[in-house]
Amino acid sequence: MFKREQFGDNFKWGVTISAFQNEGAPKSDGKGPSIWDTFTANTNNINNGDAIGDACDFYNRYEEDIALVRTLGLDVFRFSISWARILPYGRGKVNQAGIDFYKRVIDCCISNDLTPYVTIYHWDLPQALDDKGGWTNREIVDWFIAYLEICVKAFGDKVSNWVVMNEPMSFTGLGYFMGYHAPSRKGINHFLKAAHHTVLCMAQGGAKIRELQPHANIGVALSCSYIKPVNQLPKHRRAAKRMQAMLNRFYLEPLLGLGYPTDVMPALKIIKTFFRKGDEERMVFDFDFIGIQYYFRVVARHSYTPPVLFADEIPPRARKANLNTMNLDVYPKGIYKLLKFYSSYPQIKELIVTESGVCYPDFLVKDHVYDVRRMKYHQKMLKYIRKAQQKGINAGGYFVWTLVDNFEWKEGFEPRFGLVHVDFETQQRTIKYSGKWFQSFLSKTASTN
Ligand code: NOJ
Repeated sequence: MFKREQFGDNFKWGVTISAFQNEGAPKSDGKGPSIWDTFTANTNNINNGDAIGDACDFYNRYEEDIALVRTLGLDVFRFSISWARILPYGRGKVNQAGIDFYKRVIDCCISNDLTPYVTIYHWDLPQALDDKGGWTNREIVDWFIAYLEICVKAFGDKVSNWVVMNEPMSFTGLGYFMGYHAPSRKGINHFLKAAHHTVLCMAQGGAKIRELQPHANIGVALSCSYIKPVNQLPKHRRAAKRMQAMLNRFYLEPLLGLGYPTDVMPALKIIKTFFRKGDEERMVFDFDFIGIQYYFRVVARHSYTPPVLFADEIPPRARKANLNTMNLDVYPKGIYKLLKFYSSYPQIKELIVTESGVCYPDFLVKDHVYDVRRMKYHQKMLKYIRKAQQKGINAGGYFVWTLVDNFEWKEGFEPRFGLVHVDFETQQRTIKYSGKWFQSFLSKTASTN
């Protein structure tokens, strides 16, 4: 049995969305194309052939959606800015209509008594920059900092909580190593270049915000997985360690001044080919919080591919795991283990779970969506976060992924994660059972099992 109050008065209860997945209006009011507009324009790139259309039309329905956040009883609204709405070509001329849109969104948060957490980058790189090599071009550090500076100057009077980057491992791993996501680049070279530039952007971006807004609360949001070896054979245990280094340490440790995790993956040292003099220092920034985003467990084993990592995952289906719509292994207890793991870094001041959620098929029956499994998932996540707090870990918030069902990248509209159901034909919103649970749990006096 726990109550909201037990998490502490300063615990942040939030929900996260992202520009590309929610806004729609890809060409409205001067917005330029992003790599994801290009990628989704070919519906063969989307697993079930879905066309994104206007996604969930947040561009026009932001008032209704932000009011829903308040209705659910949450206090934080985390959303991302579309780079190509602010700078249609990624750099150069600013699109005032884009700035005005996010000003309206921020004002709407404030009038609903919500604290905005603004993500500067959530994967939707302007196409014009990709045409110049995108994340593999070192110039991206200057492009990114110039864009970030515009955002902080435009919104900094009302926004003081910033997430510089969202899940760098996802967009560099899927987009630059596996070629599965936009911009469909493949191979270790593309990946390592993109990764190194991303680290520089995170640290330099943090420093730039600090310079412009000394009292800002600055973080990054990193994906993480709970990893265990398939069995205790030394080769599998070593494989799990490398997987851990890749999925949970790679983007964190350079920021903390520890460098890339070459201890368990010596071959990773080739990333230094892309270093310039002074990069070791440029990669470090003292973030106020580290956002961790957790969705699934990985069972790892030794493998001869991919190179450098020499480990792969036993498919969750093959080991009869508890699957979500995306065939990932749903394992809420992993958050406790991860919070413990991250709390072992003395440099980290605060951990916030800046995303977690689960996708299951939902059925709208007579205006109700009875998503008991999703409700239980969030309850378990909270139980383990509370347990971590009781062990003295500074876990300062929980942001649900996500508010309304939205466009799940290459997976299209099928995986539904929202606390609120969307009928994509009519854009009708219906609060699910999980959303109603949050509503009653967060109303000050309620408690739950
Ligand atoms: C993390 C990403 O930040 C988000 O964009 C995505 O939709 C969720 N994971 C669910 O896969």
